[in-house]
Order: sequence, then structure tokens, then C-alpha cells
Amino acid sequence: MPKTVIVGVSGGIAAYKSAYLVSALTKRGYDVHVIMTQNALEFVSALTFETISGNAAITDTFMKRENHDVLHVSLAKKADMVIVAPATANVLGKVASGIADDMLTTTLLASKCPVVFAPAMNTAMYEDAVTQSNITKLNELGYHVMDTGIGMLACRDEGAGRMKEPDEIIAFADSVFESLYDMHGINVLISAGPTREAIDPVRYLSNNSSGKMGYSLAQAAVSRGANVTLVSGPVSLDAPEKAQMINVVSAQSMEQAMTHHAKNADIIISCAAVADYTPANVSDTKIKKNDDMSLRLIRTKDILKILGEAKTENQILVGFAAETNDFDKYAKAKLESKNLDIIALNDVSRPGEGFGADTNNIKLFFKDNSEADLGVDSKEILAKSIINSIFEYRLKTTR
Ligand code: C5P
Repeated sequence: MPKTVIVGVSGGIAAYKSAYLVSALTKRGYDVHVIMTQNALEFVSALTFETISGNAAITDTFMKRENHDVLHVSLAKKADMVIVAPATANVLGKVASGIADDMLTTTLLASKCPVVFAPAMNTAMYEDAVTQSNITKLNELGYHVMDTGIGMLACRDEGAGRMKEPDEIIAFADSVFESLYDMHGINVLISAGPTREAIDPVRYLSNNSSGKMGYSLAQAAVSRGANVTLVSGPVSLDAPEKAQMINVVSAQSMEQAMTHHAKNADIIISCAAVADYTPANVSDTKIKKNDDMSLRLIRTKDILKILGEAKTENQILVGFAAETNDFDKYAKAKLESKNLDIIALNDVSRPGEGFGADTNNIKLFFKDNSEADLGVDSKEILAKSIINSIFEYRLKTTR
């Protein structure tokens, strides 16, 4: 379930009910941050929300900040959900049109988390074609706009436009959250990127892995609510938001991190291009030039094999196989020999795909002998399909 919830309060008489909403959310253990529009301040004071939520109520985009991060962006990043209650016709219209002229609408535009609107307005305004078309547009854009209740309104009109009760808003938000974050509570451990095997203080052996596939898998699992630990070799990518990052360098340090974190993992995805060999001796000083030179290499530990041997009941272990020929044969052999549940095969014989590239082509082989060809696509899209397939397989096979 969400940890950080932003409650946006816009200017309607129903704003008084939002105090109960914030109180109920806070009691359920959420870290609630209230953003009020200028008009909302005419109905309820910021102090009410500050006292109930325990956090400063934000009312102005240009509020002075002690730490100079951009507040609407930092809050938007932190939020697991935004609930706008009451949502006036004005706020619905602004968001539907991409207008961001105050703290609430800038935060809404900057946020990537689910947004629930609980509209509240006069019946005629609610039924107006412009409002209805804004609501349709918002729903099409992926926002979650609640219906309104029917009853006596502040203007003494009787009809639609009454904001749903706070408990109904919370139940609605819960159902949105459950449908989107269906991997909530699942621990996913992912390895990504290359490893670097030191030769001397300035040289190393490595490979062309960019880490993009593993990072995209981490992002896809995070977006479905999983707790993601990402063990990454040296790459130049931004850490996926909300993933726990463990940065490693060598195959040995990756092995230590993976075996340690595997104990609590429900799903383990080994996407890293781990070096198969490492120098037998690492020189403490820079090796001087000679006419010729030979480097003795020894095998690194096969991390995935170790994880396969230690696999616990109900743990799903996924490996990657980059092959240039006899694809299915090698992939199936690896599935078996490493005690995997799923292997993702990528054909690295095609130029411009796979290693270091933005696109990949993936075929999945499952322990139950089923297969799924995910085809060629961007690594982001393939990552979503892979995570989905792993999740479905887990639902099918674990007790
Ligand atoms: O056997 P091969 O190296 O081709 O298998 C690839 C799979 O094994 C990948 O999932 C990779 O992350 C993993 N691997 C590993 N430890 C190694 C080598 C590969 O975990 N030393």
C-alpha cells in the first residue's frame, strides 16, 4: 500500500470533509502531505491540515525552502498516490488541459503516481458538457475520476456534484492502488550491468553490457509496487526511483551481494553480464610494458548456478542467455543446468540489438516447458512484458 499520499484540496465547501480524509489516511499510517489552492484557504485553514497530518500544508509554489530542491518535483517524486478532494471544475479543467499555474497543478503535472479526483461542484457545473468532457479526457489519460454523490448541495440545489464521503474516497483509492500495484509486498532481486575484473590498479577486463535491460526490469517491477533490490555493476544510468541500489564492481562482489539478498527474495532475475574469468593475480602496481605478455585467468563463480542450488520453495529464479546460434537448445540446457524457472533468451547475433543497444529480442522458456516469444521491442517495453510473464508464472506455480 502507498506510504506517501498527497491530498490536494481545492476551493469548495467540501474542503471541510478533507480534514476527515487526511485524518483517516494519517491514522492508517500514511505520510500525508496536503497541498491547498488559494481558494481552498478561503474554506479551511492550512493550520487544520498541518495539525492533522503533522506536515506543513503547502500553499504556494514559491514558498521559501531551507533545502533548495524544487518542492513540486520532489513531492511528486516521493508520492505513491495523489488524491484531489475536493476537485473543483476549475482544477479538473486545468489538469485536463495541462495548465500548471499553482503548487497543486504543477505537482499533478510532475507526478507519475496514480491520481484520484473526487469532484465536488454545483450540479449544473458538474453536468456541463465542458466538465463532462474534461472528466472523460482525464479518465482516458489514466487519471481516476470518481463519480459524485447525489444530494443536497451547499447552494441548496439537489442533484449530482456532491463529493463522495472520505471513507468512500479511501476505498476507491485502495482499489485503484491494488489494481495498479499488484506486485505489492513481493521482493524482487535483480542483477544488472557488466562486472569489472581488475588486472592492476588502472586496468580491468569487462564487457559491453549497458545495464539498460536490468534497469528497465527494475523500473517495471517498481511501477507494479514490488520491493526491488538492484545489484548493479558499473554503468552510466540513473538509479530507478524507489529501488534499493547495491553498487558492485567485480564478479566476486556481485556474488556476495546477490547471495546475501537472495535470502529474502521472492523473485530473482540475473540479468548482469558477469565475467566468466578473472585474472589469477591482481598486480598492486601498474604493470609495465613488455614485448609480450600473458595473463592467467581463472573462472569466476557462476552466481546463477549458486542461486539455483540454494533456491527455496516458491522462489522464482530467472536467468538470461545471450546466444548467437542454436538458441533454443542452449537456452533450455541452461534452464535445466542452473535449476531456473524461466530463462530469457536474447539473440545477440543481430546487429543493433541486445548488448549495449536500446532494443532487444526476447524469447522466454519456462520450467513447465511452455514458451513465450516476446519479439523485438525497446528494452522498456520488453521489461514490462518479462515482469508480467514472471508474475503470472509465479501466480500459476507457487502456493
Ligand atoms: O552460462 P551463461 O553465463 O551464459 O549464463 C548467463 C546467465 O548466467 C545470466 O543470467 C547471467 O547473469 C548469469 N551468470 C552468473 N554468473 C556468472 C556468469 C553468468 O550469474 N559467472
